[in-house]
Amino acid sequence: MNMKKRLLSGMRPTGPMHLGHLLGALTNWKSLQDTYECYYMVADWHALMSEYKDPAHMKTYIMEMVADWLAVGIDPKKSTIFIQSHVKEHIELFVILSNMVPLSWLERCPTYKEQLREIKTRDLTTYGFLGYPVLQAADILAYKASVVPIGVDQMVHLELTREIARCFNNMHKKIFLEPEALLTDVPKLLGTDNRKMSKSYSNFIALGDTEDVIRKKICSMITDPKRIKLLDKGDPDICNVFSYYNIFAKDLVQDAENWCKTAKRGCTECKNRLADKVIEYLSPYKRKRTSLLKDKGYLEGILKLGMQKASEISSLTISEVHKAMGIR
Ligand code: TRP
Repeated sequence: MNMKKRLLSGMRPTGPMHLGHLLGALTNWKSLQDTYECYYMVADWHALMSEYKDPAHMKTYIMEMVADWLAVGIDPKKSTIFIQSHVKEHIELFVILSNMVPLSWLERCPTYKEQLREIKTRDLTTYGFLGYPVLQAADILAYKASVVPIGVDQMVHLELTREIARCFNNMHKKIFLEPEALLTDVPKLLGTDNRKMSKSYSNFIALGDTEDVIRKKICSMITDPKRIKLLDKGDPDICNVFSYYNIFAKDLVQDAENWCKTAKRGCTECKNRLADKVIEYLSPYKRKRTSLLKDKGYLEGILKLGMQKASEISSLTISEVHKAMGIR
């Protein structure tokens, strides 16, 4: 009998995996594998809620996502890796829960309101998108996961999941756990334009970027705006390039601080040194992801096994739900 607590998390295949995912989530996911019984899911139904007009490109992102996860050390022997849409119980539980979730819970959800306001490239005033957090609740509750590693931006969804679990438990029978968020301290890494690193801002360094692309992106980064000429002294504390040194080039942090404060070396040289380091940092992952992507059969095998393991658990929950509701 497995006595480890069950953990579930997911990511949407809406773009390439980048450094933000690596440092913000994947490194953490990797280290949780020994402590928890982990389920890591590619949330393709969630992706479809925003990508419904042009969903064909998701296929590439899905395979790349799985290859990237494996490349950074998510281990299929320890964790269950699967695609949300392969496991039918997610959608079934989503439909069941949709019937009991009051509209007002979804309409007042801050992430929903924010996305409607911010995202101009897609029409998100849809029936499906409003239900986003209900599907997320179904993902978590279908496994009775007690722990969910997420970023702070997802906290409201977890709170809704807890409310939905309570709602079902009170209405029918107490079968769901109220999951806890696992928030971890992650190093702060901004995108190349100083905003949050995100696919929608095109300010990311992808795990699959070539060396040239990585260098170009790093060389385009904004430094201390007051440092215009080579001999101008700079302030590393307000420079995003310097904050990257703290993560990817720890051995050069002192030097970089010195180059900047004394104007000993210019920003271009400083960026090029950083680019060398980031390229070096990513090279083992890149080698692995490239070889994994050449072996589609291997990836598909892992996903098939993942689907079987995930279905085993989630189908038990669905049977319990049917019974509690007296519908089958
Ligand atoms: N909404 C999450 C995100 O965008 C992805 C997700 C879908 C998820 N289902 C989940 C995360 C279940 C944790 C648990 O990041």
